[in-house]
Amino acid sequence: MNPATMEIPIDQKVLAFIGAPRKMLIGGRWLEAASGKTFPTYNPATGEVLAQVAEGNSIDIDRAVIAARTAFESGPWHTMTASERGRLIWKLGDLLESHLEEFAQLESLDNGKPVGVARVADVPLAVDHFRYMAGWATKIEGNTIPISVPYTPGARYLSYTLREPVGVVGQIIPWNFPLLMAAWKLGPALAAGCTIVLKPAEQTPLSALRLGELICEAGFPGGVVNIVTGYGETAGAALAAHQDVDKVAFTGSTEVGKLILKAAAGNLKKVSLELGGKSPNIVCKDADVGASIPGVSSAIFFNQGQCCCAGSRLFIEKSIFDEVVAGVAEDAKKIKVGPGMDLATQMGPLVSDEQQRRVLDYLESGFSEGAKAVVGGHKLGDRGYFVEPTVLVDTTQDMKVIQEEIFGPVVCAMPFTDLNEVLPAANDSIYGLAAAVWTSDVGKAHRIAAELRAGSVWINCYNIFDAALPFGGYKQSGWGREMGHAALELYTEVKAVTVRL
Ligand code: NAI
Ligand code: MG
Repeated sequence: MNPATMEIPIDQKVLAFIGAPRKMLIGGRWLEAASGKTFPTYNPATGEVLAQVAEGNSIDIDRAVIAARTAFESGPWHTMTASERGRLIWKLGDLLESHLEEFAQLESLDNGKPVGVARVADVPLAVDHFRYMAGWATKIEGNTIPISVPYTPGARYLSYTLREPVGVVGQIIPWNFPLLMAAWKLGPALAAGCTIVLKPAEQTPLSALRLGELICEAGFPGGVVNIVTGYGETAGAALAAHQDVDKVAFTGSTEVGKLILKAAAGNLKKVSLELGGKSPNIVCKDADVGASIPGVSSAIFFNQGQCCCAGSRLFIEKSIFDEVVAGVAEDAKKIKVGPGMDLATQMGPLVSDEQQRRVLDYLESGFSEGAKAVVGGHKLGDRGYFVEPTVLVDTTQDMKVIQEEIFGPVVCAMPFTDLNEVLPAANDSIYGLAAAVWTSDVGKAHRIAAELRAGSVWINCYNIFDAALPFGGYKQSGWGREMGHAALELYTEVKAVTVRL
């Protein structure tokens, strides 16, 4: 360890894992791509190749869907009790927890995020999610429903509903929380009794593949979870369009969400989408300013700003505007930006050169339209994909930096005079994923929460996630809710059964 940087050495098990080309999990076996091709995944802190991974395409997706279909219809999974399913999911959570450090490092190396953050957030949240969903396996219930049928006078019936697994599910996940997004997708689908083909993001396939090993170790029957690595335009598109997939669940850009929807139309598979955001974060003058400044800073800077729910539009009441902006700018200056494997690092690099370029392009567009950076505004260093934590002011509603999701450490701060002005502005977005308000007036807080068109509203806090809380978007932020018992609705069909007595 270099004491100046506190960079930790890579765990031996992680070194061994990334040292060999990683294969895909299909039907309980680790296979190379049918084409024999591999693709590189990079370390965003250095830009160097981290590992080689099998490059799956439509042929591999086909193989995985066949394995998932077989497991759904005729394997031991089909006849397993709900209790047995729950125990397997719980065991997966336990196994993941016992490999916490390994997963935290894989996540840091592949995604760039600080390993210290992955240790306390990404991995424990994924563990907790599996445990929460394990409990649901035995609690998926139908109803008995009294019916009165006018055209069969005198006849009596018993009617009830069953909630059954939707079938073979395709799950396409992004790179910002690679392990956690895998857990959000797999947990409820497994609890419901579905079988799965999971396609991790090409930027960050490693933790899902390591999770695949734990899935095998836990004892899930072969074919229940299949993991096909590859690019979105090939493997992802083939999965979304596949005729024998019953449902596709996607998290990523709104642009690709629309493509998924089109691809799904072929066999009208069920679709759930968790897409982009441009979340408003409103600070009222009656807020505890000392508490709200670090709150709004972490709302945007957490995970290098690569959060679908990042508080990227910061509305501040005029009389405290200068104070809050100065406080957030001070926080931004103090953030230690560096490699994720350095324990002193508070903000890592962005995930890819493409993402760095995208964020820098947004900054340039903002500057060319008249926005000013109070702090930051540039890339950082010549190695890796770093961008300075940035606070923009002097923005206007029509600017791209206000309308579009930047997905980087960039917040736009805007003053407002009263609620009649800020609420329409906060809702003036194609997105509706999250929102927050900072105020000490309880009544006002709840009134604002009711007015905001967003799937999650935080009051005097931000980024508070729990496996039990539903998460998802209004408007173009998505379809459906993940987490909580709402997630089970995504993975079950309702069957109404009627018997004449
Ligand atoms: P993306 O939407 O292209 O990628 C997400 C996933 O979709 C990946 O697994 C990718 O392989 C797959 N994919 C891509 N094209 C596909 C297609 N045609 N059919 C099926 N699957 C496909 O996101 P990208 O390009 O990595 O990032 C672009 C922007 O998307 C970001 O700047 C950010 O604004 C947004 N984004 C939002 C996320 C969220 O959590 N809602 C996560 C990642 C990105
Ligand atoms: Mg893309």
